[in-house]
Amino acid sequence: MTQLRIAILVGSLRRDSINRKIARSICALTHDRLDCFMVEIGDLPLFNQDAEQNPPEPYRRFRAEIAASDGVLFCTPEYNRGVPGGLKNAIDIGSRPYGESVWDKKPAAIISASPGAIGGFGANHQLRQACVFLNMPVMQQPEAYLGHVKDDSFDADGCLVDGPLRDVVMKLADAFADWVEIIDRSRRLLAEDAAHAALQAAE
Ligand code: FNR
Repeated sequence: MTQLRIAILVGSLRRDSINRKIARSICALTHDRLDCFMVEIGDLPLFNQDAEQNPPEPYRRFRAEIAASDGVLFCTPEYNRGVPGGLKNAIDIGSRPYGESVWDKKPAAIISASPGAIGGFGANHQLRQACVFLNMPVMQQPEAYLGHVKDDSFDADGCLVDGPLRDVVMKLADAFADWVEIIDRSRRLLAEDAAHAALQAAE
């Protein structure tokens, strides 16, 4: 089977972001099943509806990368109990012009990580709320509010060190690969059924 292409968006622009390190770990842990690639959001100008008909080049690049993916993984911190502004900006850019959203029907998962105890729950659910409107089937379980994540959760190369966090991230990576594969397979079967029904109707 051809590997599904997964766009990964990281909600933090920080060089040593723990969320980026977790995103990279997911890429590594799923590389035999998924073809993951990072989609950068730091160069996107603030969304301005006036630019919808003549979008700046970074908007075009961003939309094309999401459109070319089979699924989306969000790894984000929580800022002031919500989604970081840069990530929300990217979501808004991808959602327009009206009727041409690049998010539509893309299977997704949301991981939030924080040094704090709540694990970015607020940002995670704010993002889920946007995904409902954007018609993205988001993996429901396992939920991924990763709390108490610290710099020493990673080695000098940014890889997760052995321990409970690595075990949880491995489970999440497997579940996400299952999720996007199941949705892809279901869509193919439905398309085959529809084609078969059309043939029968024509006979
Ligand atoms: C934070 N941080 C934070 N943490 C949290 O659990 N809940 C929150 O609401 C906030 N709010 C917040 C606002 C702003 C502006 C900053 C800069 C930080 C702390 C945050 O979780 C911590 O800095 C993480 O390390 C950020 O994630 P990255 O950059 O390491 O991926």
